[in-house]
Amino acid sequence: MKKSLLFAALLMVSVFVSLNSCKKEEEAPDVDCSTISGATYNAKVKPIIDTYCVGCHSAGGEAESEGVYTTFADVSTHKNHIYDEAVLEKAMPPTGALPDSLINILHCWKEAGFPQN
Ligand code: HEC
Repeated sequence: MKKSLLFAALLMVSVFVSLNSCKKEEEAPDVDCSTISGATYNAKVKPIIDTYCVGCHSAGGEAESEGVYTTFADVSTHKNHIYDEAVLEKAMPPTGALPDSLINILHCWKEAGFPQN
């Protein structure tokens, strides 16, 4: 009896922990966008994408079929998907999540309505 109670308690704790960590990974960053000036494509987003994504997401790159991110028009087409993968799920780039400061910029770019300038 005691053992099964302990087992049930452990199971609940581990379910709780795994649900929680899952939730945490997919949360939008808690950043005050008024502290990040000029989170626009040309000023701040393009350099991030050029550095961290275009190596694969370009014509002839290994992720060409998943989306080419070389121009604003290309990136606009995929903006929500880019946000999901790089900001919420942190599944891209595949080598590991972007630094928080860059995730915050992408988040604030979305909050501003994905402006070009
Ligand atoms: C090392 C190569 C590489 C880099 C760098 C890279 N990607 Fe990808 N990306 C891939 C590959 C390969 C796929 C397709 C397989 C997959 O989904 O894992 C993909 C798929 C995607 C998808 C579609 C995922 C889906 O499930 O439909 C998005 C969106 C994406 N990448 C965004 C990005 C963003 C944003 C960056 C930069 C922050 C980035 N990727 C950097 C290789 C890369």
